[in-house]
Amino acid sequence: MLAHASAHSIRDKKLAVKNFLRNFTLGDSRRRTKIEFIEIPGRDGQKFPKYINEYWTSKQRQACSLHEIAYRACFKGQLPGFFITLLTEPGHTVYDPFAGRGTTPIQAALLNRHVIANDRNPISAILTRPRLRVPDIAIVQERLDKIPIDKKAKADLDLSMFYHRETEAELVSLRDYLREKKYAGREDHTDEWIRMVATNRLTGHSSGFFSVYTLPPNQAITQKKQIKINKAHNQTPLHRDVKSRILKKTKSLHRDLSDKMQSQLRDIAKQALFLTNDARSTPTIPDETVHLTVTSPPFLDVVRYADDNWLRCWFNDVDLTEVEKNLTVTKSLKEWRGIMGHTLKELYRVTKKRGWVAFEVGEIRNGKIKLEEYIIPLGIRAGFACEGVAINRQNFTKTSHIWGVKNNKKGTNSNRISLFFKE
Ligand SMILES: C[S@@+](CC[C@H](N)C(=O)[O-])C[C@H]1O[C@@H](n2cnc3c(N)ncnc32)[C@H](O)[C@@H]1O
Repeated sequence: MLAHASAHSIRDKKLAVKNFLRNFTLGDSRRRTKIEFIEIPGRDGQKFPKYINEYWTSKQRQACSLHEIAYRACFKGQLPGFFITLLTEPGHTVYDPFAGRGTTPIQAALLNRHVIANDRNPISAILTRPRLRVPDIAIVQERLDKIPIDKKAKADLDLSMFYHRETEAELVSLRDYLREKKYAGREDHTDEWIRMVATNRLTGHSSGFFSVYTLPPNQAITQKKQIKINKAHNQTPLHRDVKSRILKKTKSLHRDLSDKMQSQLRDIAKQALFLTNDARSTPTIPDETVHLTVTSPPFLDVVRYADDNWLRCWFNDVDLTEVEKNLTVTKSLKEWRGIMGHTLKELYRVTKKRGWVAFEVGEIRNGKIKLEEYIIPLGIRAGFACEGVAINRQNFTKTSHIWGVKNNKKGTNSNRISLFFKE
């Protein structure tokens, strides 16, 4: 009787999700969901639905300012927000094995869910953890005022193509201060916040960053290439005051946060778990504890996260060669599928019964390789049922470009999510 009732509620739950994706409308938008069916080779003609609509990138649903930390290939807060709201309740646990800048854990915490974040790149936790313990602006200001600046401080590598010598001295002084606090075990949440904001302000293309004009902040380039940019733009680095820029960015991250939200985030932080494992093996996460995973794995085509992060690694005293060695970087579809297959097996282990996985892959090679379809048999082999693919499509806009949405060349964005359920 109980078994029957539970089979019934599973069916109801799946049906509710299916109907939601099918009948979705946003505000007064008249756009209807387009449904296509895909057949996966080797699955006896079984068909899986693809639901296509503009589910979460519309202007009506701006993400919280707290997300505004740049990171290569990040998704928007609305993406995990959509699945967290649809598939979990407050108090549930939400996980991301490839957390990046922490979009999933931050959004989960904003929605009062418990969080587990994992990423092989230690810069990920540096960028994410402090945003669950957001210090008041006045406290950040007070702390910044106390940090001593040695006007003669110089970096142990040549950064003159990025920074004016005064900026460099301020940056190195800040780095030394944070190092000292860290190694003495005295780094507190305010220091961690300052570290996170400074890491985000190291280089970028506007005067809000510490550096001279360069690539956007998620793509640090080499010293040699920066010298070329400086020549091409006929520019030399001007003094950019480090502390005032940290304070300004702090205010901007605070923009959408109420006191109540800050205290909710602090509560979530008490139980939050930050890991730096390979996504295929996360023994710290007990079996069947995760209600929902929302994730986006490393791209198939080479995105060298380690190269993007060299300056961030220097500032944070992280060993770049270790990062380089540990991150998944591959152009081979076979190898990528192997790694994703193992990751999905591990996700099956940690997912609760009746839990979900939303596995996002971008559009690559001009849509010729449909990774979302390759993921389906891997998830099924791991033990999940596949409930189909949700595709979010939105016309390209300038603002969506800024915060790391993957844009294809035709002027539309698309996120492609294979959706799995553990029965
Ligand atoms: C596409 S990004 C994720 C972006 C994230 N969704 C966000 O919004 O910021 C992929 C992430 O996977 C991480 N990564 C690469 N190989 C990994 C591995 N084998 N195990 C765990 N993390 C890995 C990279 O460091 C990178 O942060």
